[in-house]
Amino acid sequence: MRRIIVAGNWKMNKTRKETEDFFKALKPLVEGKDKVEMVIGVPFTNLETAVREAGNVKIAAQNMNPKESGAYTGEISPLMLKDLGVEYVILGHSERREYYKESNEFINEKVKSALSHDLKPILCFGETLEQREGNITEKVVEEQIREGLKDITKEQMANVVLAYEPVWAIGTGKTATSLQAQEVHAFIRNLLTDMFGKEVAENVTVQYGGSMKPENALELMSQTDIDGGLIGGAALDPSSFAKLVEAGIQAL
Ligand code: PGA
Repeated sequence: MRRIIVAGNWKMNKTRKETEDFFKALKPLVEGKDKVEMVIGVPFTNLETAVREAGNVKIAAQNMNPKESGAYTGEISPLMLKDLGVEYVILGHSERREYYKESNEFINEKVKSALSHDLKPILCFGETLEQREGNITEKVVEEQIREGLKDITKEQMANVVLAYEPVWAIGTGKTATSLQAQEVHAFIRNLLTDMFGKEVAENVTVQYGGSMKPENALELMSQTDIDGGLIGGAALDPSSFAKLVEAGIQAL
């Protein structure tokens, strides 16, 4: 059966000292909680510290260039992430799609590169408020998934994590209701069945993200097709993150 993954996304927050303090405080709170996979995505500058301090938590980068090396000023390659002991990489986050104009095609290149370098991509996608109100949520999500996973094999899907994050729910305090989220997650599961067959679709972890917090996490994670969360704001504090992990365990 698929795993529940509780993943934090720190975005552009915390120094190395703050990273160290976070993990020192988190460690006793999540000891032995390995029934769910715990992941935290930290800024590039904190990766080394995070990998060293993480204990049973896996570390993710928040972006990656698909190339191994070369004249790409300011970019970080998969080889550099592997060198640091990073296991996951968040790709296609809506903030990168919106502010840095990342296309589905470019994100697909990154997904393929991550997999070929033995990094697990957490591929994010989701509709904007305008798209939801225009009743094109499913169309948008389908396009992002089909294009983001273009040329990915069934075997490779074992290492891919998906994160449905409605843009209107990110950082706004507006969470999708569990029903709204489950509806889209069921659609995603059917789409994955169509693309890769039932067995693969049943085994892919599909997280929900967008204003998830300890108060609503259990309800969301308990939905049939929701397998954990990708959490921004509520993952910055160790006790809050530990509560989210607890919700993940209860939802099992
Ligand atoms: P949020 O962010 O939990 O702060 O809404 C989620 C995300 O962007 O991954």
